[in-house]
Formats: sequence, C-alpha cells, structure tokens
Amino acid sequence: DSTVTVAPGKLDFTAVPKNLNDIVTVPAGYSVTVLYRLGDPITAATPAYANNGTDGNFAQRAGDHHDGMTYFGLAATGNARDDLSSTRGLLAINHENITQRYLHPNGPTGTGTGQSRPEAEAIKEIEAHGMSVIEIARGATGWSYVQGSALNRRITPLTPMVFNGPVRGSTQLRTRFSPDGTQGRGTINNCANGTMPWGSYLTCEENWVGYFRRGGTDNAARGGATAKSVISLNRYGSSQGASGNYGWSTVSPADPTNSGFARWNVSVDPLAPADGTGDFRNEINQYGWVVEVDPYDPTSTPRKRTALGRMNHEGCWPSKMVEGRKPAFYMGDDARGEYLYKFVSNTPWVAADANNTNRLAMGDKYLDAGTLYVARFDATGQGVWLPLVFGQGSLTPSNAAYPFADQADVLINARLAADAVGATKMDRPEWTTVNPKTGEMYLTLTNNNASVRPLNGTDAANPRHYNDPKDTTAQRGNPNGHILRLRETGDSSEATTFQWDIYTFGAGADLDATNINISGLDASNDFSSPDGLWFSRPTNPGGLVNPLMWIQTDDGAYTDVTNCMMLAAMPGVVGDGGVKTITNTGADGSTSSQQTFAGKAPGSNLRRFLVGPKECEITGIDSTPDGRTLFVNIQHPGEDVGTNFPTSFSSNWPASQTSSSAVSRPRSATIIITKDDGGVVGL
Ligand code: FEO
Ligand code: CA
Ligand code: CA
Ligand code: CA
Repeated sequence: DSTVTVAPGKLDFTAVPKNLNDIVTVPAGYSVTVLYRLGDPITAATPAYANNGTDGNFAQRAGDHHDGMTYFGLAATGNARDDLSSTRGLLAINHENITQRYLHPNGPTGTGTGQSRPEAEAIKEIEAHGMSVIEIARGATGWSYVQGSALNRRITPLTPMVFNGPVRGSTQLRTRFSPDGTQGRGTINNCANGTMPWGSYLTCEENWVGYFRRGGTDNAARGGATAKSVISLNRYGSSQGASGNYGWSTVSPADPTNSGFARWNVSVDPLAPADGTGDFRNEINQYGWVVEVDPYDPTSTPRKRTALGRMNHEGCWPSKMVEGRKPAFYMGDDARGEYLYKFVSNTPWVAADANNTNRLAMGDKYLDAGTLYVARFDATGQGVWLPLVFGQGSLTPSNAAYPFADQADVLINARLAADAVGATKMDRPEWTTVNPKTGEMYLTLTNNNASVRPLNGTDAANPRHYNDPKDTTAQRGNPNGHILRLRETGDSSEATTFQWDIYTFGAGADLDATNINISGLDASNDFSSPDGLWFSRPTNPGGLVNPLMWIQTDDGAYTDVTNCMMLAAMPGVVGDGGVKTITNTGADGSTSSQQTFAGKAPGSNLRRFLVGPKECEITGIDSTPDGRTLFVNIQHPGEDVGTNFPTSFSSNWPASQTSSSAVSRPRSATIIITKDDGGVVGL
C-alpha cells in the first residue's frame, strides 16, 4: 500500500532482545517468511530436497551458506531490467561454504589418512559452493522463487570463467586448463558482493586458499623458503603440508582425464614443465579475485576483474557515482592484520552507462584499468591512499623482500605489495558500504586477537586491546570489533587522502564504559563482531533523507548470551564525535594508553532489529527498490551439528521457524521480512 506514510527521520520499531532461540526474531509488526533454502530445486525437473543427505545434483539446487546478495528488478515479463520493479526480480546469492556433514547421510566418507573421497560426495560438495541467480516474484500470497524459470542459474567452482585486466595472460595464470592464462574454472568461497550501477553483480572470493593441498616437501620443490612462489604462498596462508579443505584432490575420478579434482593439489611436480601447464602449481592463482556476473543473461561467462587485486576479498562496493568523475570501489581483505583497499577506475563516470544493456562491457570499461590503492590510517585522524603501481616506490625488481616483475605480479601478490608500501594492518576488514547521501565509506572490522593486536600493538584506527569475559575462546585483543568510516578529501572518489573516525565500537553493554564500551551501547543495541554492512537503497522513501544502515554480526565472543543479529542505524558523519584517549589492559594487568577518534555515541539511532537462529551468522542483505521487502541471509544455522547427528541436530531451522517441535537438518536460507502494514522496513 503506497499510501502508508513513513517517518524517514527516525528508526520506528521496538528493539528485539538478545536471545538464544532457534528462530529468526523480528520486531512486533513484522513478519518473516523463508524464500530459498539449501537444496531447493531451481529447474522444473529437479526433485524436491529430501534433506537427509541423499540428495545430489547441486548444480540445479540452491547451494549452501548463503552470503552476499543483490536484488535486480525485472520488467513484468522476459529478462529486461527494471530498476524500479518491487514485485519481480532476480536475486543473485553467494554460497560461501558448506556444512559438510549435513550434505551426506552420515557425514562425509573417505576422510581418513591415505583414503580417497568418493567422487559423488566431492561433486556434491563442490557444486554446493558458488552462487545462485533465481527469479522471484510477488503474488497474491507473497513472495516465492520461480522454480522453472529460464533465468535461474547456478555458478559453481566448475563454471568456465575468463580473466580480464592486467593479469590476463600472465605466466602465473598458465594452467593445463588454460595454457595461455586467459581462462579459469569456477569461483569459490564467495563471500560478500557488489552491486554495479550498470546492473551487474560482483561476487568476491574470500577464503580460497584453504581448499588447496600442498605436499610435505613442496617448499623444496619450489626452490626453498626464499623462493618467490613460497614467499607468496605463505603470505596468503598456504603452508607446506596443507591437506586442503574436504580432501577433493584425493578423488580418483571415473574418467581419468577429468582433472577437476587433482587440481586442488597445487604441489609442484619436479618432472613437469616449469611453465605450470604440466601440473597444477598455478591453479591457486586462479582464485582470490573479484568476479563480475551479468545476472540477466544466464549464458554469459563471468569475468574475473584482476585490476582489483588478489586477496581474501570480502566484498567490493562502489563509491557514489558522479558524472565526469572516476568511480572508486572499496574492498576489505578479511584476515587478521590485513588491509583496506580501493580501486579507482581510469574512466570517468558517464551516467548514461547505467542503462547500457551490454553490462559486462561496462565492467570492461570501468573495472579493467585503473589504480589499486591500499589505506594507511594516521594518528592525526587523517589517512593516505597508497598506490600499488609497478615501478613506483619499492614495487620494483630490486625489492629485497619480494622482487616484483610487473603489474600482474603486483596484483597477484597485492598483500606483499601493500606490505612494501607501509599500509595499516587492520582488525579483520570485512564489508564496506557507502552512505548514498554523504558518500562516506563505512568498514566493519570484525575482531582481532592478542597475537596480532597485542597490548602495545594498537594504533589510532585499531585502538583497543582488552578481554571480553563472555568470550569463551578467551581471545584478548579486540574480540568485539568496531566500525570505521572515512570521508574522502573534497568528497571525491579520486582523492588520495581522507579523514576517518570510528562510528561505533562493538561491546557488551556490561563492559567498561570508559575503555571498552566506548560508544555507550545498551541492552537495545549492544553487539559484537560486525561483518555485513549495507545502506538502504536511495529509492526508498527515506533513502536520501536520513539513510538507514544495516549491521550484521558473525560473532564468537557474545554467543553464550545471544545468537548473531542484525541492527539498524541512522549514523551521523565523520568527525561528529571527537578525540578520545583510552587505557588498554593486558593479561598481566599492565596498561597502555591509546588515542583514537570516536564518533558520537549512537544512542537510539542504533537498534537491534533481528536475532537469528542457533549457530548461524547473519550475512547478506538487499531490499526491493521501494524498501518494503527486505531480503536477508541466514548462514550455517546449526553449524556445530550436535553430538546426536544424524538423529538430531543442534538447530532445526528453518523448520523450527513455524514448528517448535520440528526435527530437521538445518539449512542456510534467504528470508523475506515485511512490515505487516505494508510500510518501509525499519522506518
Ligand atoms: Fe566471508 Fe569475512 O566473511
Ligand atoms: Ca561465513
Ligand atoms: Ca563476512
Ligand atoms: Ca566474519
């Protein structure tokens, strides 16, 4: 009902209490429905999901671990884009990972030392990764996905891809699959996303390194600990002797020419040609990229945008688009002590390109050439974007720690390049988002531990070291995380300097108000480990008046008190608080002083909107253009499985959402949240 009025100036719902219930809890006056669950079929011919571990054919079913997500509007019929449609659209959804035991009747087999994984089990696990594109429509009884739509698509770690940008054709991309280094197989560990103004979807490869096996003598086979490839592998967390998640490389395929399993073992074969086309040494370089997908064309080949660098890509969010100005794209590299990056296109924005129907060509135009920068945060409250350009500064063949050969080498080894230019190590950079009104960028820093953020290793932008007594894993450091924001100099996406502050510090309301709960959180809004982060669309009625920001948590420190949650916020602006000096305390009681810049305490402009079911994280969010339907992903409910598997489970969600006595394997799922009076969600 478009006549319902909204109050765009304030949050208008009652805070949801923290809880440990096995359902999604939302405020009074709101409803939750489940739209798209692990295993749901996406072709007319695919049978319903039995959900007992016997199902196969995940290339035609929803994958697992729903994550980043974008709604793309569709015209009333066909596949034409309609950015204002709030009744028919496509949902692009990432499937980051799997909860392996639920995918098989009694859990996985063939996992013992020296054993081989059965081919059918491995295929199921591989195909449950990647992403979905599904058609959804709102009818008389609400939203549903269209099982038989020709627009439905699964993209998996087996889907053919092409490489674009400076790394295309690099010697480091040459594989048996693509001897000229221009093509790749699939995408994996797709975490957060980006919504491009020209109607394409970015899916971001995060924890790819863990899937690859390396033999116990692989360092020597690569020339020893000082060999360039060994330094590079170590920098991304690939260790000699790593077994590789789920053991896919141990499969002996029925078709001996099928290299789709062996490629997960990247050990160097000393007898193979050094160019990488005889073994699988370069397969690992195919991952760690931002991948662009045209959701409106199910036959299109996704493009890996190498100009944006290789890292544990969390997400990739565009700056405000301003005619004639080069757009920026903000990216977190999620690991402890990693960096915040931005890519600035070489091409100034032309607003008419938003409507160009050759969407991947628009990606070629804006995402294949530009400058990758990494952030340095200074104690003054200012910061600098440091360019990662081959030949500049220490990014040369004579760099002592790691000689750089060319720009492709800089981008493949973006972490090493960022080390060389002196970027600031952050408390796990997760999602980025941009305030559509001010253009200010927000970044979640989910948490850190004492070994990476010790008492005397804090800095102004990562200022806390403390102990949260609720953290059962007892990781001192910054166990609750914080949300940082920055304003580019001159409010320009092209700027090379910025001002920053910390919008909000995560903390339990019971923690020390001077040094830990610095933002004054209370029972209505205390949280830990912020991760997902997104501003409401500017097309909804409050969108550009007082933009609404959503914060999603992925928490290990507060989960004895509450399941993970989502909060709504109406944040202020960079610099609305002020300088703040805190006292950090180490395990032995010694103290250390740290100055930082804290935003104005959020008070009633930050409020808990949702609490998820057991053992889930809340990640992935979008809305219809009118703001009246919110899409949210519930990832890995019941991830601890429970001790009575396969008889009973540690969560029974989503079956538990409507039946408190349900006994059912839990499933990651996309949910829909609507307001019972038809109004804008949150306002
Ligand atoms: Fe996929 Fe860093 O979360
Ligand atoms: Ca996750
Ligand atoms: Ca995340
Ligand atoms: Ca996380």
